Amino acid sequence: MSTLIKGGTVITAIDSTDADVRIEGEIITGIAAPGSHDWEDTADTVIDATGKYVVPGSLDIHTHMELPFGGTVASDNFESGTRAAAWGGTTTIVDFAVQVKGESMMEGFENWMAKASDNCAIDYGFHMIAGDINTDTLAEMDKLMELGVTSFKLFMAYPGVLYSDDGEILRAMQKASQIGATIMMHAENGIAIDVLREQAIERGETDPVNHGLTRPAITEGEATHRAIALAELAGVPLYIVHMSAKEALDEVTIARDRGLPVYAETCPQYLFLTLEEHLSAPGFEGAKYVCSTPVRKQAEGHQEALWEGLVRDDLQVVSTDHCPFCMGDHPTLGTQKQLGLGDFTAIPNGLPGVEDRFQLMYHGGVVEGRFSVNRWIEVCCTAPAKMFGLYPKKGTIAVGSDADIVIFDPDVSWTKGAAQHHMDVDYSCYEGMEVQGMVETVLLRGETIIENNEYLGTKGDGRYLPRTGAGPRL
Ligand code: URP
Ligand code: ZN
Ligand code: ZN
Repeated sequence: MSTLIKGGTVITAIDSTDADVRIEGEIITGIAAPGSHDWEDTADTVIDATGKYVVPGSLDIHTHMELPFGGTVASDNFESGTRAAAWGGTTTIVDFAVQVKGESMMEGFENWMAKASDNCAIDYGFHMIAGDINTDTLAEMDKLMELGVTSFKLFMAYPGVLYSDDGEILRAMQKASQIGATIMMHAENGIAIDVLREQAIERGETDPVNHGLTRPAITEGEATHRAIALAELAGVPLYIVHMSAKEALDEVTIARDRGLPVYAETCPQYLFLTLEEHLSAPGFEGAKYVCSTPVRKQAEGHQEALWEGLVRDDLQVVSTDHCPFCMGDHPTLGTQKQLGLGDFTAIPNGLPGVEDRFQLMYHGGVVEGRFSVNRWIEVCCTAPAKMFGLYPKKGTIAVGSDADIVIFDPDVSWTKGAAQHHMDVDYSCYEGMEVQGMVETVLLRGETIIENNEYLGTKGDGRYLPRTGAGPRL
């Protein structure tokens, strides 16, 4: 099967060129000046992209499909969540397999592989959440590297659940350094946060906004500083996940200026949502926006600092931390966010975003004039692929790359909302928001899976992606 995409503007992290793109089977085999080859005569399928952008399928390297968390399970499973991702122009996810206390890492990996296999609409890989670090489990990291799990997430938050102390963190970092893995860090001082949460509950401060007030920016800044120090000691590349505080960004900026291999992502919720407007919404509405790290006070300047970090490359990646829970009862999973009615500490942490990210970042980044279309592609496609061992197979439009391609209409304006999204969750964090730019057609390895507002793929189209380890610095 061969396909020609003609007449569009091909956008990569480097440049924007009017060009035809030829696909044979699953691979891009040619990029050439419009009409300069006889590709139209031989193509089985021709897609007319006149007036549209032809961009790489994007990568969301931080998702939690069907994660058991906070007394329930994230409402999107691998089937619904990856299909929703496709609708939003994402053709690869890297999800987090979880090793819980008392379990081996291999058990965690096999559990997540079983959940994802034959269910995904798009390609998928795994990071490993290391929830029980000891001599035996550290030894398993070699095997996971062989299986293409080349990044390990540690938690300085959630004491008693996924938390690791500094000694465990250092040991895992030393091992990762030996084997060429990357450490991903949930950087919040969970011990201090637990004191603040307990004190707030004692004072009767139980509304959702207290989730943010008891996780102040200084607890993220301090943990980020400590994570960087431990990573420097171990000599390992460090990637800070879901960054929301400018104090944390400052630490990453200083580390990068010193030449350390330190990287960070942020997520749309930290760029578009605020503690004052969203987390403080009347009644229990703020529960929609409960996630960790928390959305932060606009008055403190976090959102603008994060946008600026993306412009200056102090932040390299935008992912979602997609981990949705319904406000009302989920048809099969039951009560979710309402577990925390009257006690913010019991609200499951996490929010939806896998379908929103790529289009939101075009709107906020490009339409609102903060950065170029090329930087949009870099933070949503190319940098995540490079950072997590998937480039140039994924993350760009180049001869030899997988034909994961999105035809994107840069001009159309539309209104976001739960009524039109495909995620298995009963609210949108961006309800009523007017945005410009829309995903029109999506190809996964040469196969059209979204076209004319229809999903054309099949459950199980997605393939497991073994990844390579830490390469040269981004
Ligand atoms: O609130 C969040 N972020 N939930 C998912 C788990 C995590 O820490 O990434
Ligand atoms: Zn986390
Ligand atoms: Zn997460």
